Order: sequence, then structure tokens, then C-alpha cells
Amino acid sequence: MLGDVLRFLVCPLCGEALAQRDAAVGCRRGHSFDVARQGYVNLLPGGRSVPGGDTPDMVSARAGFLAAGHFAPVAAALAEEAAAAAAVSAAASTTATATAQPAGCVAEAGAGTGYYLATVLSALPPEHAGLALDASKAALRRAARAHPRIGAVGCDVWHALPVADQAATVVLNVFAPRHGAELHRILSPSGTLLVVTPAPEHLGELVGPLGLLTVDQRKQERLAGKLGPYFAPAEQREHRETLALSHQAVAELVAMGPSSWHADAGTLADRIARLPDPVPVTLAVTLSAYRRRPAPATP
Ligand SMILES: C[S@@+](CC[C@H](N)C(=O)[O-])C[C@H]1O[C@@H](n2cnc3c(N)ncnc32)[C@H](O)[C@@H]1O
Ligand SMILES: [Zn+2]
Repeated sequence: MLGDVLRFLVCPLCGEALAQRDAAVGCRRGHSFDVARQGYVNLLPGGRSVPGGDTPDMVSARAGFLAAGHFAPVAAALAEEAAAAAAVSAAASTTATATAQPAGCVAEAGAGTGYYLATVLSALPPEHAGLALDASKAALRRAARAHPRIGAVGCDVWHALPVADQAATVVLNVFAPRHGAELHRILSPSGTLLVVTPAPEHLGELVGPLGLLTVDQRKQERLAGKLGPYFAPAEQREHRETLALSHQAVAELVAMGPSSWHADAGTLADRIARLPDPVPVTLAVTLSAYRRRPAPATP
């Protein structure tokens, strides 16, 4: 799939276009990046590693948890919004140019295993390809095979993205870092940014008993603050339901998140064993759609 998304990518060192050369991709200035056997390309200069990328254990826990379908309603809501956004963008660019334009990509910043991006691509016409952007090699390996139209790219989403200006019709950001200026740069003028953030009560039943890191109540405000100069809020919907999670699902849920860095495995296992099985757990997220401001607003 990588070949089909190269037109959306640029060299992270000089910003030139990239082309495929055997088992690498490179620009005309001679910068070259290996394509991994597992199908992703690492566009981090010098193969640098990035703090914050998920570990292989976190990624396999995430893959197990998501495969069980607990967050499927969130993926379905995201796919519905993305399909509507892609249709609006196609109509706007046809009106502006009087001819149908080639579809932009769907880019996900911090794509993890590619679970959400794959669901979104399945809901879109086949001319849409997906760019899974992440720093974790374990995540990129999974994302590269999550859907036939995904190209997986290693990069640091807090820095300049190796993505061409206005290449994306839809940008996704699900529980992941977001860099307003870069997301603005890669989104097409008629495109939509879709962001999923946890609500304060998300996983609330597990926080106390398991000693998890709590959801930052001001995250929504900080998110609006960071994106505000670049994006105008368009629509917001909440998804709330009570999941019935087995102990195994709870263990995966904890292991895929930041609490896994802070808690001792034995203590966590004891605490999980003391929960009812299954345990009721609140899934509560906000899905926000944003339109790109023509130019960043001055603060
Ligand atoms: C909480 S996970 C969410 C993954 C996916 N969106 C999902 O919901 O399943 C956050 C993701 O962001 C990635 N990440 C964290 N810091 C990053 C960075 N600086 N650059 C690129 N990816 C990063 C992690 O590797 C991880 O896959
Ligand atoms: Zn270059």
C-alpha cells in the first residue's frame, strides 16, 4: 500500500517529494528511508526513537482490547462523521474547480494499531487512502496490515509531519497527541479534523479501585485552546455507555494506557482480581469535528 500513499508524503529532511526505490523510499536529493519488512516506512530522520511511542506490550494489549469490539461504537461514530466530511469536501472541491478532484488522504496522527483508521476507510469510497502516523514500531507493524488502503509511517507527531501541505481530506486524532499547526497545514481547505477525547467520567469505575491515572478534567479546555487558532469547532457529539468487561479485558485496558508505566504488575493483578467479573465500566468520549480556519487566528 505504501506506493499509493507516497504522493501524500514529503521527505522529512528537505520537504521534497518521495518515490519508491527497491526496499526504500527517497527524495531527489538523495535522502533515503528504509521500508520495513512489515510494510511501514520510518520517516524519523536517522531512525531516531521518540519518547511517548507505545511499547510492544502496550500495543498488543491495545490490539486485543480493540479486537473484542468494546470501543466499536466509537469507531462507527467516527466512520459516520468521516464519510459525511469526505462527501462535503468532494462537493466543495468540485464546485470550486468545476471538475472532480482526486481524493485527499485520511491521515491519523497517533494511529496506534490503525483500528479507527481501518474502520473509517471501510466506510469511504475506495479512492480514499489512509496514512497511519505513529512513533511506535510495534503499532506501525499492525497499522500497515490493518486495512489494504493504509500506508503506515513512522514520525513524531509533535514535530513537522512528513506529509504534504493540504494532503488530507480528513484528519483523525483519537486519544493521541495533537499539534494544531501541523494538523492545520496538512488538512485541505474543505477538510475536517475529527478528534476523540475521553470525558471526565471515562473508565471512572476503574480509576479508584485500580489506582489508575485520572483523565485530566481540563483536557477538553486545553484541547480547544491548542486547536483554537487553527480550527473552528463545527460539531460535537458525546458517546456514553456502560460496558461489561471481563477481568482479561480490564487487564488489557490498563496495559494499553499510561497507567501501565506507573503501576506494579502484581499489585494491579491483585486489584483486578477483587473487582466483580464482569465489571460495569463507563465508556464516555467526546467526538469533535473542526473546520480549518483559512489562516491561523492571532491569539
Ligand atoms: C493512546 S494511543 C492511541 C492510539 C489509537 N489512536 C487508538 O486510539 O487506538 C496514543 C498513540 O500515540 C502514539 N504517540 C505518542 N506520542 C507520539 C509522538 N510523539 N509521535 C508519534 N506518535 C506518538 C503512541 O505510540 C500511541 O500509538
Ligand atoms: Zn530529502
